[in-house]
Amino acid sequence: MQMRAAVLWEPHSPLRIESVTLPDPGPRDVLVRIVGSGVCGSDVHVLHGQLPFYDCPIVPGHEAAGVVEAIGSEVTAVATGDHVILGWIPGCGSCQSCWDGHPERCPNLGFSGALYDGRTRIRVGDEAIGSMAHIGGFAEYALVGERTCIKIREDAPLERVCLIGCGVATGYGSVFLRAGVQPGATALVIGCGGVGLNVIQFLDLAAATTIIAVDVHPAKLELARTMGATHVVDASSVDVADAVRELTAGVGVDHAFEVISTAATIRQAYEVTRPGGQVTVVGVAPPGEEVSLPATLRKTVTGGGPAGTQWGVTPMLVDLYMAGKVKLDELVSRERPLDGVNDAFADLAAGRVARTVLLPHT
Ligand SMILES: NC(=O)c1ccc[n+]([C@@H]2O[C@H](COP(=O)([O-])OP(=O)(O)OC[C@H]3O[C@@H](n4cnc5c(N)ncnc54)[C@H](O)[C@@H]3O)[C@@H](O)[C@H]2O)c1
Ligand SMILES: [Zn+2]
Ligand SMILES: [Zn+2]
Repeated sequence: MQMRAAVLWEPHSPLRIESVTLPDPGPRDVLVRIVGSGVCGSDVHVLHGQLPFYDCPIVPGHEAAGVVEAIGSEVTAVATGDHVILGWIPGCGSCQSCWDGHPERCPNLGFSGALYDGRTRIRVGDEAIGSMAHIGGFAEYALVGERTCIKIREDAPLERVCLIGCGVATGYGSVFLRAGVQPGATALVIGCGGVGLNVIQFLDLAAATTIIAVDVHPAKLELARTMGATHVVDASSVDVADAVRELTAGVGVDHAFEVISTAATIRQAYEVTRPGGQVTVVGVAPPGEEVSLPATLRKTVTGGGPAGTQWGVTPMLVDLYMAGKVKLDELVSRERPLDGVNDAFADLAAGRVARTVLLPHT
């Protein structure tokens, strides 16, 4: 079949909307009609060639939800018509790490533009095009592997719950599963974009009492308050370390979350964490950036993210949204058609949006 997809031909260049070819689903493939596709900071890293496991040409996009349109002959996990959120860490499903519930450690299926069988699916003429995170969400359809599909309830709006595919699951995983935040904790979040705002809302759900949000855009800080921040700091005009000292009686925070991905802000997070506290680095630092930290053993540094828990927690996160306990509507600053993808990236770079959701069929 033919469909429209946003293709990155070269790093640092605008995406081009192309008419691309998809084959019929292979035995374990699932064809998903994309309803909503969020534009995430990790897509920006792909655009800038900062994620070394992705080669161009590629269709970015990894925060997508849609409806199953067709399935391969061996697929049992989903059926035609099912509503699905696409998961970006499927793993091979048959190695020790995958059996242990840690597909993010799977040595057999890392991040590449290919599906499980090592082959790409999208073509422009004879040229093979990769799919980011085995998904390629900036397109009308995604031909994905069966394990990428996480079936969800059908009354949830797909153009909203698509955010659970990355930003929301990452916020949840970082707060509850990586950092293990306890009620009464004090916390700092540096970077209030689509992911950082989710870290804030789950800190609020975890009953952290002090939640300090840091950004350089006043509008993001306002949104941070809506999501549960108790204090906001504009890093463009205020010294973050001074502000944190003042707000924590000179002690530092129990938990700091870095959600931007620069060496300077990772170090900043480390420095304002109290002795014995924990730094969770959610940002995916570009290769080549080195962070030097003081040689103290009294603070823990860990990586953020949903890790291998996406399959377990995704339907639960949908339930939380439908129950009014998790905010998604507030995070969607703008909806655009597929050909608005470059404008969506420009909005993100300028700090004008938390998330843009692309609606490929409008
Ligand atoms: N670990 C994971 O599993 C995972 C999952 C999703 C995203 N990420 C990463 O998280 C990071 C953030 O993603 P996002 O979608 O929220 O991006 P985003 O662009 O929406 O958010 C980044 C925010 O940081 C702010 N900012 C920039 N420089 C700053 C500074 N010096 N001080 C304070 N604030 C500053 C920006 O204004 C923006 O609000 C990216 O590196 C992305 O790749 C990691
Ligand atoms: Zn595996
Ligand atoms: Zn993402």
